[in-house]
Amino acid sequence: MAAPSGASSSARLVLLSLLGFCVALSRQESSSSTDSCGAAKLAVASLVPFDTAGFRCAANWKQQDFVLRYKNTGPSEWSFVLSAPDKGSYVAVGFSGKGAMVGSSAVAGWASNGRGTVKQYYLGGKSPDEVAPNRGLLKLVRNKSAVVSRSGRLYLAFQLSTDYPQPYLIYAVGPDGNLPPSSTLQLPMHQSMASRAFNYTSGMSSSAGAGDGTFPAERKHGLLAMMGWGVLMPIGMITARYFRQLDPCWFYSHLAIQVSGYAIGIAAVVLGFRLNEDGLRNVGVHKALGIGILAMASLQTLSGSLGTCAWSGLGSAARPAWINSMLICLELRSDRFIWSC
Ligand code: HEM
Ligand SMILES: *[C@@H]1O[C@H](CO)[C@@H](O)[C@H](O)[C@H]1NC(C)=O
Ligand SMILES: *[C@@H]1O[C@H](CO)[C@@H](O)[C@H](O)[C@H]1NC(C)=O
Repeated sequence: MAAPSGASSSARLVLLSLLGFCVALSRQESSSSTDSCGAAKLAVASLVPFDTAGFRCAANWKQQDFVLRYKNTGPSEWSFVLSAPDKGSYVAVGFSGKGAMVGSSAVAGWASNGRGTVKQYYLGGKSPDEVAPNRGLLKLVRNKSAVVSRSGRLYLAFQLSTDYPQPYLIYAVGPDGNLPPSSTLQLPMHQSMASRAFNYTSGMSSSAGAGDGTFPAERKHGLLAMMGWGVLMPIGMITARYFRQLDPCWFYSHLAIQVSGYAIGIAAVVLGFRLNEDGLRNVGVHKALGIGILAMASLQTLSGSLGTCAWSGLGSAARPAWINSMLICLELRSDRFIWSC
């Protein structure tokens, strides 16, 4: 009896330290970004040429860590502050009717040697010479735009004179360390871009192009997690707890349900990590919770298998490695019961 319990407690230890590690990792990840919609107020509020109190916030391009704050600050006046990592490149946000680049107008900003530049561009085509500086359909309010570089982030602030901005936001980031020359102001082509349908009233965005027919990845993740952790695993446990009189059938059903529940749960976690976190709140907490559930379930599955061996009286032989004991246990059980189930 001593061997299995020793093995299971060390397995527990390994899993618990894994859990701690994962939580620490997700904590670190969220604190390393210096701006987010969770921030109480704009870090550079005093340097922006308009009042930024009460702005709403959308982190709808997570891949590039873009944070857009905005507010309808007056009749026909919309104010924006885009915050993005400063990698020595330009950042741009544009407004588009259908989500396409061509035909839209964008505001681009960058900082070099402590001096910020903001310019409007008309995106007339997909080559650098068709993207014209100081032109475009946006009515920028004069003397109300600024670029500030602070703590490795670029803040691009501007105001538009419009009743309601166009329904698509388009974003772009220039190539690292390649700024537009001050003589021509010509933008180099973006290293990355994005297009989002955006509802300024609800604050909801969706990636353009993700067709309406496709099942959203968030829902898939949620559904899988619910099926795996919330439905199958508990059913598996109930089988083990209440249907033992149906020996050995309970064991096989329990095993099958638990293994598939665990696999589906893991699929949910994997899918969760691939989600972009647009519009989600408390992502760090959610992530830590998910990892916690995974660790707990792993622990449960492991100790459950060990428990099974001990219970069936096969665990008493000296078996140093828990994995060994598990394998032998399954083998013997199937040997004895496969035909009678
Ligand atoms: C010199 C400047 C620019 C050049 C040469 C350029 C070039 C291009 C090219 C070649 C594509 C097609 C890429 C592909 O399909 O993989 C594209 C797409 C795109 N660009 Fe640009 N671009 C420039 C500036 C901008 C700016 C400033 C923005 C936004 C603020 C922007 C937003 C987009 C978006 C959203 C797309 C994808 C949607 C679409 O194809 O219409 N671009 N660009
Ligand atoms: C607004 O900008 C113009 C130049 O574009 C400048 O001459 C003027 O002093 C500015 N006004 C204020 C109030 O800053
Ligand atoms: C934006 O969201 C608001 C509130 O949720 C809704 O009433 C409105 O119809 C939406 N607008 C568009 C264009 O979808």
